[in-house]
Amino acid sequence: MKDRILIIGSSGQIGTSLVMNLRKIYGNNNVIASDIRPSSNEVMDSGPFEELDILNEQLLRKIVKKHRITQVYLLAALLSATAEKDIEFGWKLNIRSHSHVLDLAKDGLIKKIFWPSSIAVFGPTTPKENTPQYTIMEPNTVYGISKQAGERWNEYYFNKFGVDIRSLRYPGLVGWRAKAGGGTTDYAVNIFHQAIKNKQYESFLSENTRLPMMYMPDAIRATIELMEAPFERVKIRSSYNLAGISFTPEEIAAEVSKHIPNFEMSYNPDFRQKIADSWPSSVDDSHAKKDWGWKLEYDLEKLTSDMIKNLKKQYKITV
Ligand code: NAD
Ligand code: SER
Repeated sequence: MKDRILIIGSSGQIGTSLVMNLRKIYGNNNVIASDIRPSSNEVMDSGPFEELDILNEQLLRKIVKKHRITQVYLLAALLSATAEKDIEFGWKLNIRSHSHVLDLAKDGLIKKIFWPSSIAVFGPTTPKENTPQYTIMEPNTVYGISKQAGERWNEYYFNKFGVDIRSLRYPGLVGWRAKAGGGTTDYAVNIFHQAIKNKQYESFLSENTRLPMMYMPDAIRATIELMEAPFERVKIRSSYNLAGISFTPEEIAAEVSKHIPNFEMSYNPDFRQKIADSWPSSVDDSHAKKDWGWKLEYDLEKLTSDMIKNLKKQYKITV
C-alpha cells in the first residue's frame, strides 16, 4: 500500500516547506496538510487540507481513518519564546499533541511518526562546544523540558510498544517560505526580511551569541532521509543530534551586508538572550552521519545568498 501522510502544523515555518517536498515525492493527494489556520497558497492549492486542532483527539482519529493515513509528521507546538509567556498552555500543547500521535501508532492506526526535538533539550550545565549526543541535559525552559520529556516518551513507546518513531534535535532553522513562529533563533530569519525592506535590523540577541543553525532545505532533507532510512539503521529513538552551521548575529549581519551594502545592524537583547545563553554553540552529529549517512550542504554564505534571492522574488524586488 502506498504511504499516506498527515502533517500536523503544516502552516508554520517547517510545515510550508515540508508539505511541498513530500508532495513531490509521494504525490499531492497522498500528503494531507492540517493546522488550526490555513497554510500558504502553495500548500492550500496543491493538495488536501484539513482544519485540525491537535488537542482534539477524536477529530485527529477521524481524519486519520478518513484519509487512511500511514505516517504522521507532528509539527504543531509552542516554540521557546512563546512557551515562556504561557507556560501552562506551552506544556499542554507540546505534551498532549505528542501523546495523541504516539497513541495512534500504539493502537495500530499508523505505522511511522516524525516528531522534532530541539537544541533546547540541552541546558546551562551541558558542555557548550560540540555537544555530544549523550550528555548532561538539564533544560531550564518549559519548551526544553517538554522536548526532553518528549524524547523520553519516544524511547519508551519504541521499546515498550514497538512504535516506529523518528526524531531530530533541530538547530535554529532559517527559511524564506514562512515567517518564523516564536522561537529564540528567529532573529536569523527576521534579519533578512528587515534588511530587504528597511536596510536595518535590531537583534534581540547580543552580537556574539553563537548558536547552531541550519538552512531549511538541509533540515527538510535530513527529515525525509531519516524517515526513509531502513528501520534497523535508525538506532537512536529518542532524537538525533543534527549539526548545522554555528554563527553569531554579528557574523550573519556581515554576510547580509555583502548583498545589501548599506545594511545596519543594532543589538538590544531581551528575555530571549537568557534562553539562548543556556543552549549549545555547536553540536556533534556523528551518530546521524554514521547511522543514516547525514551530510550538510549549506554554509552561511550559501544560506545568505539563497535567502536574499528568494525573499527579493517574494517581495518583488528586481535588483
Ligand atoms: P511554527 O510555530 O512556525 O509552526 C507551528 C504550526 O503549528 C503553526 O502553523 C501553528 O498554527 C500550528 N499549531 C499551533 N497549535 C496547533 C494546534 N493546537 N493544532 C494544530 N496546529 C497547531 O513552528 P515551526 O518552526 O514550523 O516548528 C515546528 C516544530 O519543529 C515544532 O515542534 C518545533 O518545536 C520544532 N523545531 C523548530 C525549530 C525552528 O527553528 N523552527 C527548531 C527546533 C525544533
Ligand atoms: N529554534 C527553536 C526556538 O528558538 C528551537 O527549537 O524556539
